[in-house]
Amino acid sequence: MTKYVIKGGKPLNGEIEISGAKNAAVAIIPAAMLVDGSCRIENIPQISDVTMLLNILRRMGAQVRTVDRHTMDIDCSGVRRANADFDMMTRIRASYYLIGALLGRFGEAVVAMPGGCNFGSVRPIDQHVKGFIAMGAQVDVRNGTVIARVPEGRLHGAEIYLDVASVGATINLMLAAVYAQGQTRIENAAREPHIVDVANFLNAMGADIRGAGTNVIKIRGVSRLTGGTYALIPDQIEAGTYMAAVAGTGGSLLIKNIIPKHMDCITGKLQEMGVTVQEGEDRMLVSRFGPLRRINVKTYYYPGFPTDMQPQIATVLCLAQGTSVITEGVWDTRYKYVNELLKMGANITVDGRKAIVEGVERLTGAKVTAWDLRAGAAMVIAGLCAQGVTEIEGVDYIERGYEDLIEKLRAVGADIESVEIPDSEEQEVIKIG
Ligand code: EPU
Repeated sequence: MTKYVIKGGKPLNGEIEISGAKNAAVAIIPAAMLVDGSCRIENIPQISDVTMLLNILRRMGAQVRTVDRHTMDIDCSGVRRANADFDMMTRIRASYYLIGALLGRFGEAVVAMPGGCNFGSVRPIDQHVKGFIAMGAQVDVRNGTVIARVPEGRLHGAEIYLDVASVGATINLMLAAVYAQGQTRIENAAREPHIVDVANFLNAMGADIRGAGTNVIKIRGVSRLTGGTYALIPDQIEAGTYMAAVAGTGGSLLIKNIIPKHMDCITGKLQEMGVTVQEGEDRMLVSRFGPLRRINVKTYYYPGFPTDMQPQIATVLCLAQGTSVITEGVWDTRYKYVNELLKMGANITVDGRKAIVEGVERLTGAKVTAWDLRAGAAMVIAGLCAQGVTEIEGVDYIERGYEDLIEKLRAVGADIESVEIPDSEEQEVIKIG
């Protein structure tokens, strides 16, 4: 086990290159299951969720060849079974995309209920299941297992209205519909950039999907996806996390390899706080030299402010002048990190979906825990801003979604290192946890 040790209080200055989008990668890798041939995927981030998914595919019989650090050739044409390794599936959320992909390809899927970040409430998949059933599948969710079968062997097109604009349900239903007989129409579809990326990948392989990026997606079933090459979009949340980091520490960061349009929802809020953002074609110069102003933030489905940036912006708002109000509009709760920030001197009160953040003069280093991926990113930002030393445990979560975080931050002036936790301390961590 490792922990991060940060000596805070240093401004960030320099350049950071953003990696491929985690939430696109974790959907597009399972989507390769639908391709009857080899597909080359470029700009894949080196993160543990990706490694886990590639191992799940390998275990099922896929050929995965590393071309370079960020490029893989994946060939699933040799896969003959519709069941995935249960133990591995339960470790990540995105494993649920295998349900749609396997149902689409084999008319059958037997998989464990997905794991992933726990925000303190159950993460339902009822909208995925409703869509599969509308397309002709029988779905049984029991004892932590999802068993889905299509009695006719092949799904048929359907009109599906999602009660919530769920990212996961939209992607899963797109995957299932690629080979379905006739047309599928998903109403109230999610519009996040990675939805468009998955549709673009599938279309590049030979699918017929229109409307991705709007709230109505139409998929006409085809008989074969033949393969090809596709490059993933850059990670909106990784970029947003570094923008928040420099907003907190002060300094100036050139953030490279981004799609500025995807950042609008984050850029706007940071500008309100007094951060300067200068946009280029695929980069942004983000600087903060003056004081931070208080703002209100409500997270919402894209193009709203992303819930996956909520802990990071809350951390920066701890250092703003005045009182900020954050409203979580996507998840029932996502404030477990607040207790950790309180240990560092923050002044935050949580009331249901709202958090009231009273700005403080400074944060001070403390021993804290990353309770989930973005909470972990928030702890890193807090540590970078704080006076003194911050130690972060639970960093496995962070490594699920941020490629080379330590190296990228050190290159722009942060004093952060990854340290092995000695056995004696590890026992203590396990006992407490
Ligand atoms: N929901 C339902 N029923 C469903 C599915 C979702 O009620 O069948 C509800 C959820 O309870 C939640 C809302 O709909 O209140 C949105 O959930 P969504 O399905 O969009 O979330 P997800 O697909 O499970 C993805 C990302 C999350 C991100 C959310 C929202 C992946 C692998 N995960 O999760 O990312 O928070 O969309 O944008 O793409 C992260 O990267 O840190 C992360 C947690």
